[in-house]
Amino acid sequence: MFLDTPSLHLDPLWDLSAAYAADPRPERLNLIIGVYRDESGASPVMPSVLAAEARLLARAPSKEYLGLSGNTGFNAAVTGLLLGEEELVARATAVQTVAGTGALRLLAELLATTGPGRTVYLGTPSYVNHLAILRAARLNVVEYPVSRDGVLDAEAVLAVARTARRGDAILLQGCCHNPTGLSMPGPLWDELAAVMAVRGVVPFVDQAYFGLGDGLEEDLAGMRRMLRVVPEAVVAVSGSKAWGLYSERTGCAIVLTEGRERGEYARGVLEVTARADYSQPPAHGALIVAEILGDPGLRAQWRAELEEMRLRLTGLREGLADALAAGPGGAAFAALREQRGMFLRLPLAPGQMDRLREEHAVYGIPSGRISLAGVPTARIQDLADSIAAVADPALIGASRA
Ligand SMILES: Cc1ncc(COP(=O)(O)O)c(C=O)c1O
Repeated sequence: MFLDTPSLHLDPLWDLSAAYAADPRPERLNLIIGVYRDESGASPVMPSVLAAEARLLARAPSKEYLGLSGNTGFNAAVTGLLLGEEELVARATAVQTVAGTGALRLLAELLATTGPGRTVYLGTPSYVNHLAILRAARLNVVEYPVSRDGVLDAEAVLAVARTARRGDAILLQGCCHNPTGLSMPGPLWDELAAVMAVRGVVPFVDQAYFGLGDGLEEDLAGMRRMLRVVPEAVVAVSGSKAWGLYSERTGCAIVLTEGRERGEYARGVLEVTARADYSQPPAHGALIVAEILGDPGLRAQWRAELEEMRLRLTGLREGLADALAAGPGGAAFAALREQRGMFLRLPLAPGQMDRLREEHAVYGIPSGRISLAGVPTARIQDLADSIAAVADPALIGASRA
């Protein structure tokens, strides 16, 4: 046997998805994974994406190898969209990546390569893959609780910034935090930026849900405020949610540096890392995004479609919060209205999430997170009733991060 068999830690999300697929109950609800769904439960292809694909098909772009930075037009367009202003763009360099995960991984490698012994601070709970990605790059990771009873603990983030060593990094989700649904308010970005700039602590920003919280510009505003103040930063961008390009693995790693030379060096590290991992990113998703962002008409259409998705999520959240508030233990659910984006984090313990699945065919994940877009509007009251049925008032909100 060439294989040792150490224990594996696979994300429970995939086991739950398999259990959902095998569940014969017709009323079952799939609220497991962060994928946008329409009223019929389908994950639709955005019309702006279809229009871009039709143009690409007509133009039949060559499938020749790309350079190691991938599609440079895509990199420039995404950098412009995310950073929004010339002064920030001028400090940035970018490479196309294999989706948001690939961007996180390449940037983690950059931090590990350029700062041996560097620590990355990770607020918990967080996106389940963050810890695995940081560890895979052999970074020291220090976890700290970033929310308490469903409320963002601003003091905890600031305390980390005040104690981190020069060169350490803090991983921050740009908006619509997965899994808590919390977005950091503008003044907290400012305060954090000021501390990090003085102490030389590096922001490692993960942008996966922009456009799905308070609006595209609003969702990016906090990060931009921070980037104006800190000298250097790294930003991982996922194209999966905002363009619905989940399986096209579309993303971008952006690095802001002091001076062009440092930027070129950082890009070199990212390219060397990519070259040894997969050589070049896949072309199709980036071509679509570049086509959309490069054409004013398509760009406006995409923004309107993104806004439509956002409004559906907001409506579902409000509807569920209203229905839960009207039921038993209603006050315990008040914080849900403050959450943003694709997810909603219920104040339920893992055992209650198990009951939700076993007794009511509602599939969320053990941390209490449900993916809102999986709920058809007509099923909101059903869902609220199921949640209320498993929510032992004595346990609601008990010692939750
Ligand atoms: C916070 C966060 N970052 C990054 C990602 C990675 O997304 P992808 O690799 O599909 O672009 C996800 C996916 O769910 C996420 O929730």
